[in-house]
Amino acid sequence: MHETPYRREPGYAERYRDRRFHAGTGVATDRAERQALRELLALARSTTPDGCWLDAPAGAGRMTAELPGAVVQVDRDAAMLVAAGPERPRACASVHALPFADFTFAGVLCHRLLQHIPTPAERIDILRELGRVARGPIVVSFFDAHSLQHVRRTVRRWFGKKKSGRSAVPRRAFLAECAAAGLEVVAVRALRRFLAEQTLVLLRRNPS
Ligand SMILES: C[S@@+](CC[C@H](N)C(=O)[O-])C[C@H]1O[C@@H](n2cnc3c(N)ncnc32)[C@H](O)[C@@H]1O
Repeated sequence: MHETPYRREPGYAERYRDRRFHAGTGVATDRAERQALRELLALARSTTPDGCWLDAPAGAGRMTAELPGAVVQVDRDAAMLVAAGPERPRACASVHALPFADFTFAGVLCHRLLQHIPTPAERIDILRELGRVARGPIVVSFFDAHSLQHVRRTVRRWFGKKKSGRSAVPRRAFLAECAAAGLEVVAVRALRRFLAEQTLVLLRRNPS
């Protein structure tokens, strides 16, 4: 499977850790994302097995502490893992080929990656890989195309603004991708439905 490159300039990891969600609209986005994740984790609590979670991609570790118990961090960018700090076990690897056996983790978080993945086939490949290593809940985020934020991004592009490299998908299409990856949708939390793109989804492996 072709993997979409995700390259960032030197210093990006530290900026992402120290600035991206500490100023401007980033502060409110961070708060809303944590709230949405907490709500989904609370919904999943009664069906979550004991054990270690996976945060992939962890980036600079922003959401790791929201996960219950021990967490392994994975990111393809070594600079991001360094920025996350040495406190947790970690692996520099791609979400397309996680270096873990089937059912290793009690739960899996994949936050703020799929909007960088342009094709359904690649997203389904990633979703299937997340499902392979999970015994319990899987939480992923995607950008919903049915939102004012996406319309604004599209219009700006028409007027010559550089492509952002982000891909949004209608909610129904994204949920169909989850099903194609063998995952069942348990709950969906949009940050602000029809306004903001960012949407979190709680999934579990399809029992059938
Ligand atoms: C926007 S950051 C999100 C980090 C964190 N989950 C958060 O919410 O703050 C996206 C991360 O995905 C990582 N990434 C991109 N493609 C990846 C891949 N195929 N496998 C693993 N990590 C990847 C990048 O290095 C980057 O750290």
